Amino acid sequence: MSWTRRLFMAATSAAAVSAAETPVRSTPLRPRHFGPLYYDQTEWGFLKEVFDARAPFRFWGLDGRTAPDKVSTFEQEFAAFMHTKCALAVTSGTAALQVAMAALEIGPGDEVIVPAWTWHSCFNAVVMAGALPVLAEIDTSFNLDPADVEKRITPRTKVIMAVHLQGNPARMDELLAIARKHKLKVLEDVSQAVGASYKGRPLGSMGDIAIASLQVNKTISAGEGGAVYTNDPVMYERAVRFHDVGTIRAVHEKAMGKAQGPSFIGVNYRMNEFTGAVLLGQIRKLPRVASDIRAASRRVYDGIRDLPGIEFRGLPDPAGELGSGVYIGFSGKPQRDRFLELMRAENVPGGGPSGSVILPAQEHIIAKRAPHPKWPTWNSPEGKAVRYGAELFPKTVAVLERFGGVPLDPKYSESDTRDIVAAIRKVYPRVKAMS
Ligand SMILES: Cc1ncc(COP(=O)(O)O)c(C=O)c1O
Repeated sequence: MSWTRRLFMAATSAAAVSAAETPVRSTPLRPRHFGPLYYDQTEWGFLKEVFDARAPFRFWGLDGRTAPDKVSTFEQEFAAFMHTKCALAVTSGTAALQVAMAALEIGPGDEVIVPAWTWHSCFNAVVMAGALPVLAEIDTSFNLDPADVEKRITPRTKVIMAVHLQGNPARMDELLAIARKHKLKVLEDVSQAVGASYKGRPLGSMGDIAIASLQVNKTISAGEGGAVYTNDPVMYERAVRFHDVGTIRAVHEKAMGKAQGPSFIGVNYRMNEFTGAVLLGQIRKLPRVASDIRAASRRVYDGIRDLPGIEFRGLPDPAGELGSGVYIGFSGKPQRDRFLELMRAENVPGGGPSGSVILPAQEHIIAKRAPHPKWPTWNSPEGKAVRYGAELFPKTVAVLERFGGVPLDPKYSESDTRDIVAAIRKVYPRVKAMS
């Protein structure tokens, strides 16, 4: 019997079976935004202090002299949590990436290696700096494939952007070794994995500089927000200057000592005190949010790891993973999609890898459309020569098509995760029997 015929027969019989059966749950499970689930009197109290003091600007209050402290205390506590010397709060993860490009002194003629699967902002930050993003394949961790990264290095490469997607650390040992060998800098984008670690080290503390998004889909949030963090005083100073129209204010001079380098042109990506108030409450809860989501994912992993032939997403450090979702490999897209369809019938909806895009498949990237036709990125000889298109990243597309799983919520009860386990245990063997 042909594979397609076997698949068709198995699928129709599975559909008939599940239609006749009671689903594992009577109502669908729906994961929610993590950070806001933990809002309480802490965030409210800090917000009220900002309100009552009528001091929403981070650098001075109503009297024009005293410096408010919500954003700067958040910066100190964020840096301490991440085991780096300094952190800078900014308005978003997208802004943080642009600040990091300026801190790294990336510009026209430079190349930055970016995963083919990640959020737009990673690619856009490189273009906004006038440099050329060079895309590399991902592997089953959904993060950069180190072997492919090494193939893409040229004499113009300056930075590897190691993005830790969907709670999972990238293969940092290999990526750091490649960077050392080729004298490249590493920028860690921790936006989707705040609270995760790699071999005992917080994500963002291993590369030269790191960024995080604190937008609502992330581990902790004030709706929008971002951070840049590093151990390097020169890069920190450049980051501070760039985020605040080239200047350095007293609060940062106090944190880092007297400025060493000259001023240069920058933007305004300063965080306000209301955002800082919420984030100060949230950073203090980060250990709890991380431990809750980890606990939920451990219950799911432990409940299904004995299923014959089960393949989990590549986990370079299973203990460090945040566990914002549990992902399983299938033979290909038809089998993965069938799994997701049957899981939906059990009221445990899931999906493929999410929260990112296949960059080389984006129409405006294929068309090389920068903010201006004379933008340096695609006007260099290398920029003119580069070609995009999903077909050039077959490994990335294959991983994204064959993995499926269930996103999790840190407040899922034991009974919720038991349902997830029960649904996977019911559906997975049936789907596997189709191939
Ligand atoms: C990996 C990654 N980097 C950067 C960003 C940009 O963050 P923001 O939405 O705060 O600008 C995101 C947002 O989803 C992201 O997922």
